[in-house]
Amino acid sequence: MLSRTRIPLPLQVLLATVAGAVSFALARMVCTLARDHIHPLPFAAVLLIVVLVSARALGILYALPTGTAAILAYDWFYLPPLRDMSEAAYTVLATFLGMAVIVGTVATVTSRRAIAAERARGDMADVQASLRRLALLIAKGEAPERVFEAVTHEVRAHLGSDTAALIRYELDGSTTELACAGLPAPEVPPELVATVRESGRAARRDATAVGVPIVVNGRLWGMCSVGAAESQLPPDTEARMSEFTELVATAVADAQSRAELISSRARIVAAADEARRRIERDLHDGAQQRLVALALRLRTAAHNSAADGAAADRTVRPDEVAEIGADLMTVIDELRELSRGIHPAVLSDSGLRPALRALARRSPLPVEVDVRLDARLPQPVEVGAYYVVSEVLTNAVKHAAATVIEVSATKQDDCLHLRVHDDGSGGADFSGGTGLVGLRDRIEALGGTLDVLSPVGSGTTVTARIPLPA
Ligand SMILES: Nc1ncnc2c1ncn2[C@@H]1O[C@H](COP(=O)(O)OP(=O)(O)OP(=O)(O)O)[C@@H](O)[C@H]1O
Ligand SMILES: [Mg+2]
Repeated sequence: MLSRTRIPLPLQVLLATVAGAVSFALARMVCTLARDHIHPLPFAAVLLIVVLVSARALGILYALPTGTAAILAYDWFYLPPLRDMSEAAYTVLATFLGMAVIVGTVATVTSRRAIAAERARGDMADVQASLRRLALLIAKGEAPERVFEAVTHEVRAHLGSDTAALIRYELDGSTTELACAGLPAPEVPPELVATVRESGRAARRDATAVGVPIVVNGRLWGMCSVGAAESQLPPDTEARMSEFTELVATAVADAQSRAELISSRARIVAAADEARRRIERDLHDGAQQRLVALALRLRTAAHNSAADGAAADRTVRPDEVAEIGADLMTVIDELRELSRGIHPAVLSDSGLRPALRALARRSPLPVEVDVRLDARLPQPVEVGAYYVVSEVLTNAVKHAAATVIEVSATKQDDCLHLRVHDDGSGGADFSGGTGLVGLRDRIEALGGTLDVLSPVGSGTTVTARIPLPA
């Protein structure tokens, strides 16, 4: 439609006025020729159809003056009494044309505003929908790579650009392209990347590439860029991108703090496990060895005293010495048990299956163990799994009044799946003590999950999923 093209409005007003005058002249000529041949009614109908068609084709700004002029011509030169083009007639014609142009201009401006508002509303709804889709991805805890990929696609779709890319600024001065959208694969102009990095502000290059910085926790983290192969990017591109870059910054900050939390928890658990191992080693290498040596010496002394024959004045009787030796051996056993309780030696030496069987043997309740693992697992995973089973077995004995417990461990989808089920009273609750909460912390620190299903009266099932590092 002509009225919606890029011709400036004042020029269009002038054109519409000229069109009205031309329409008057043409209609006058046609009316004069057709007057004696066609009945006024069908002629008027044809005239109205022409006005309607021109309104559809040219818009209201042109339709009003051309239609008004044509109808004036019809009145003056078709329907009796006919009129001469006197000065008064020209004045009336000019007034009618002027009015038609004014009304047409007002109607055009109003409809343009309405269209612009409608577009802005649609645009805003599109942005909100895009942002919602991205926020959902982030909330679902999708991997950052997936989020970055989705951001570039949404930015490209929203801005209608040919390409979009996400770039991270590395601490060593290099850059990493994290995601890109558009074909052929976009190449972000290096000078644009450098300008955004140096200035920390949005920048443009030849109006065909725009880069907007991404700031995470006050630090320049990277940039998002869009490119247009042929057309020019509109002036509001930077502003329209900023909502997306803010969301990326939130996602990155989220992922960073999650990763920091996980690694700090993992560090805490690893430090605790390490401390236990050290105590075990210390006990084994230190106190235990000394006690063993002592016991052996005492046994030897007892043996020698017995061999020397009975001397009435000796201070240590052989049976006493033997008793001391026996006591010391008990202490050694206790120490060994203690050290195993702190960090199970059988676990480090032989792996999860024997360690879980040893736990089962020690339990006062019958425990069915089904471990389907064909190889050793990483040490933190084995230790985590061991403590889950150990605590859950203890709970079953302490709280459940169960008659049997089942333990299973399988490897599936690069995860260790643990399940411990008892047929007891149910009703286990994380808030009841520190055992279950501690287990959940331990497993989450390994990036896994721990769930407890314990309906009252229907037994308790604890499941843990621990990812196995590649
Ligand atoms: N297998 C189970 N059957 C029934 N109730 C259970 C079972 N396991 C746990 N519970 C309930 O859930 C609560 C929380 O268990 P949790 O292991 O966290 O603490 P706790 O065993 O009481 O103490 P601790 O901190 O020494 O482990 C328990 O107090 C108990 O009431
Ligand atoms: Mg407990």
